[in-house]
Parts: sequence; structure tokens; C-alpha cells
Amino acid sequence: MNRPTLEGLRLNVPAYVEHTRLIDWVAQVAALTEAADVHWCDGSEAEQQQLTERLAAAGTLMKLNPLKRPRSFLARSAASDVARVEDRTYICSANQEDAGPTNNWIAPAAMRERLQTGSPDGTPALFKGAMKGRTMYVVPFSMGPLGSPIAHIGVELTDSPYVVVSMRTMTRMGRRALDVLGADGDFVPCVHSVGAPLQPGTDGQIRDVPWPCNDTKYIVHYPETREIWSYGSGYGGNALLGKKCFALRIASTMGRQAVQADGVGWLAEHMLILGVTNPQGRKYHVAAAFPSACGKTNFSMMVPPAGYNGWKVTTIGDDIAWIKPGVDGRLYAINPEAGYFGVAPGTNHHTNPNCMDSLQSDVIFTNVALTDDGDVWWEGMTDTPPAHLIDWQGRDWTPAIAQQAAGPDGKPRPAAHPNARFTVSATQNPVLDPQWDNPAGVALDAFIFGGRRSTTVPLVTEARTWVEGVYMAATMGSETTAAMAGGNGAVRRDPFAMLPFTGYNMADYFQHWLGLGDKLAAAGAKLPRIYCVNWFRKAQSGEMSGKFVWPGYGENMRVLEWMIGRLEGRAGGSDNVFGISPRYDDLRWDGLAFTRDQFASVVGIDKAAWQQELVLHTELFNQLEHHLPPELPATQAQIHERLAAL
Ligand code: OXD
Ligand code: MN
Repeated sequence: MNRPTLEGLRLNVPAYVEHTRLIDWVAQVAALTEAADVHWCDGSEAEQQQLTERLAAAGTLMKLNPLKRPRSFLARSAASDVARVEDRTYICSANQEDAGPTNNWIAPAAMRERLQTGSPDGTPALFKGAMKGRTMYVVPFSMGPLGSPIAHIGVELTDSPYVVVSMRTMTRMGRRALDVLGADGDFVPCVHSVGAPLQPGTDGQIRDVPWPCNDTKYIVHYPETREIWSYGSGYGGNALLGKKCFALRIASTMGRQAVQADGVGWLAEHMLILGVTNPQGRKYHVAAAFPSACGKTNFSMMVPPAGYNGWKVTTIGDDIAWIKPGVDGRLYAINPEAGYFGVAPGTNHHTNPNCMDSLQSDVIFTNVALTDDGDVWWEGMTDTPPAHLIDWQGRDWTPAIAQQAAGPDGKPRPAAHPNARFTVSATQNPVLDPQWDNPAGVALDAFIFGGRRSTTVPLVTEARTWVEGVYMAATMGSETTAAMAGGNGAVRRDPFAMLPFTGYNMADYFQHWLGLGDKLAAAGAKLPRIYCVNWFRKAQSGEMSGKFVWPGYGENMRVLEWMIGRLEGRAGGSDNVFGISPRYDDLRWDGLAFTRDQFASVVGIDKAAWQQELVLHTELFNQLEHHLPPELPATQAQIHERLAAL
């Protein structure tokens, strides 16, 4: 086979790689970025060890105390590179209308000039020479169980070894993914550079920094050609391109395009997937969408409370679901990922004991604090912080220093960044579902949609129809938190928890959900029921004013049990303006002191608040007017009528 070499650069193609299109593309990107070397990742343990050692020598990873956290590392990012950059994220479809009003858009040709070819005025392309002095790693990966009919293959070219070791945890990575690809299989090409070429300084020495990145950042998707180009960031969803970029933005586009082939298509969703087994051994599968920082990982690993003997919750995924109709017309879901890239602050033995157990060894932590005995700590991990820490920026931290450095809100300066993360393999989860790696996926019984709302939205509501469920999901809102850039508690509409992740026009996305439901129902298929939840209502008065009323965490099992009771036709409920909610006696309360009044305050419908809420829904519909499915304003009109009758 023809194994191209570039002038002065060997492509180092392993003998087992037979995919000519892949090799040609690697050669093109190596030439553009002027990488110093090319390394094809096989995904082996030996390779992982070699890379972590290299990262430790470069100061990017710090080995933690092996007695406390065996085989675990701490990374500290640049202070300017700590989260996804939504304002630098682009959907470059040929027509702006196909990206829709909720995505940033630049014409593909203009973006390619910026990134790949350079402008006619002589401005060089950002990727030109971007990997100078660095190794370009070729990272083949499968999103989903290897060979699953629901899975797809991607290949990421990156100059960040931190990305490589993270991708090995987060995906099925390496030679096994290439084996699935064969000699001419389709793959999603993903190009990533931290945008920090290595050049000799005035003294002729080449110096690197522990966390190379660039102030200019671009996270770019070309939906028509299914390409991803990411520049300037080494962090999380900006850089681990299998996650938000491929598994949500590009995959959502692929799922909709598939309608042209089979008339139905599929769904790529920002959803956890869990299994819940009742004491009789009957198992249900639920996929749940919540915006970032609303406790998806906690819900997916929930420990049922005392009194729920015999009930079991098991995790299939904590962040993303790919959902395709099976031959029986039911919707089957896989978790395309193989690991968890979760937010550390707030995680503890009460909020998520299974997660804490997952983090005992073999973890990469990023931007958490370092304890004096070489372990990690973050806000909320323990009630009392250690007396001394090194914070996420490498500075001394004590409670007194933190207080002196308090921000304008008077809150002490945190030791861990609010968006500090852990990267850990799913196989370390003690409640990992036995079906999590099943190529066929699991048949879904219910969808849950939830946001963070201190008022208005009831604890739980069942949609009476698919259309009503799509309405609930489309109009979801969530209060932004301090962990988000610009977060200030204001309600941000986040349809389906997909606002930053839908790779095409949001109104078309609503239509895709409606169309899929219609077609499956017309074929006689059993669709999952749709529920809307809100764990976050706050007391409006009294001693508890401003505090969460619902205890959440494991107690959410009571809500899950009600849903299952509904699926089995046992549990009661009463109609409200936009669905069916339980009455107090429809939930099980043993083991929890939760009064009728408290319950009323988390399920009550406040007419004035809902009237105001509907104004906000109208604002969203106005924004998405072009292609907005008429079913949505029609459902809104029905809610108006029911509200007027209250
Ligand atoms: C995530 C997110 O990292 O949603 O999962 O931001
Ligand atoms: Mn997420």
C-alpha cells in the first residue's frame, strides 16, 4: 500500500492501518499544521503509561499520592481555559438558516479561510503551523459499544497528549476502533490544536508551558461534511471532540439527516440513561435531560433511600444518549461515551456516594485543589475544608486566605475551580448497569426533562401526549449558576437541555422530535412516556424562605417510583394545566418527613407565575418562528385556556 511521507516528516502509519482516505487526511493535516511528528494511538496500557509519564515530566499532570489515589493525576489548566466557550462555538452550515438563531454561524468558506487556508488579504490560517514542534496524535475512537449498529467512529488529530489520555478514558479508543473502521469505513474527522506552536526563543531554547492554549479560540462544526475543527483550548468539551462536538452537535445533525434514508431518523441527546429495577426484578430504562450543572451524574448513580429495599438504580450513561428505533419500533439507547467527565465541586458521600467510590483510583482530576498529603479536595467534598491546600491555580489556600480574597459577593475564594472536573472510566462505577456496553442498547420506557427553577415548574408532571411532552421539553428553562460563564440566576431557555448542543436549527429539531414520534406511533410502536421534573423549587416564605423544599438526591427515587407506577397503570395523579402530577397520597413517604404543605409548595401551579412563564415561551417561539412546528403554539393555546379556567 502507498504510505505517504511528507518532506522531512514520516507519517509513521502502522502496518495495521489500511484506510487510505484516513491516511491521506492525516497527511494533509500534518502538512497544514507542520507537526513535528505523528503518533498513531493504539490505546494500549503501555501507551497510556508512556503518555502520562511524558505529561508528568512536562508538569501538565501531577502524580497524586499513590496511597491515597492510586494511579491518579491532577492537572491545572491555564486560568483562561476552564470551561466550554459557547460564544466561540460555531455551526458552519452552508445556509445560516440551517444553523438557526440559537447557534453562532459563519459561512463555511469564510471559516475555512480563517482556520485552514488563510485570507486573500494575506492573514494566515490559524491551523497553518499550529502544531510546529509538537507531536500530532492520531486518535481513532468509537462513540458507542464497538460495532454497535447505533455507534459511529471518529478520528481526532490533536497536539495535546492530555487530550489523548482523556480520550482513552472517555471513548473506546485506539486500534480496536480502527478495526471496526476497516479499509474504507466512514468516520467523523476531528482536528484539534491547542494553538501554541513550539518555537525557539531568542536564546535558541524551546520552552513549553504545562497548559498550552491560545487566547483565540474556535470550536467549529461543518454539519454538511461532518467535520470538527477546534483551536486554542485544551479543556473538556472544547478539546475532547467525541463529547459535545461529535456526540451531540454533529450526531444530532446525522440523526436528522437519517430521516432521508429511513423516514424516521434517530436522536442524539444531552441525556443520562439509567436502569431502575423494582423488588420484583422488573427493570425499566429512563433517559433524562438536564442542563449542565443540574445533577445529571448524581441522578444517574442515585442510591434509593431507606425503605426502598430491593430497588436498584444502575447507570448506563451520565451525559449523552444516542437513541434509534429498533425493528420492534421501540426506541433503543446507548451511551456513546465510556467514561465520566463530571463536575467535582458539590460531589460528596451524601450527594453521590457511588461517584465518590468511582473516584478512588485511576482518575485524572483537573482544576481541583491539592491537599498537603498529595490528595485532592473541592468545595463540598467535606463539611470542613482542610486547614491548608494548594488551590487550582497553584497558590496557597487556607480558610483565612480564602476569606481575604472573597469576591464582591462576599463568598470566599474557592480552592477548586467551580467547573473543576474528574475524568474516570465508567467501569469504575459500582452501580454500572450490566447492559451499559450492550451494542443493541436498552429499550427506553420514559424520558425525563428537568431544569433548575426556584419557582413555577412543579416537582413532576407527566405529559398526556407525545406532543405535550415535546412542548414541555422545548420550553424548558433553567436558572444559570455561578459555575457558568455569566451565570447570575436568570432563567435561560434551554430547549431539551440542548441549547448549546444542537447542530442545526432548533425549530427543525423540534419538528424532528414530533416527526419521529408521529411515524413510530403510526407504525403502532410503543413510545416512551415523557415527564418534566424540577428538583429545585425554593420556599417563598417562612423559616425556609429561599431554601430548596425538595430534598433531592436519593429522595428523587420517590418520583421515579411514581413514574414507574404510571407506566404500570397503578399510580394515580391529577390533571394540571400542562399535564398530570401526583397528589400527596400518590407518592410513597415512609422514611421521609415531608408534609402536605411542603408537597403543595413543590407541585402547586401559580396562575400569575404561569401566565408570565407563557410570555417567556412566546419569546422563545418568536425567536424560532421560522419553521416552528404549529403543534407548539397550539399546545400553548390549550395551556392558556386551562389556565384561564383556574
Ligand atoms: C458537560 C456540560 O460538561 O454539559 O457535560 O457542560
Ligand atoms: Mn453535559
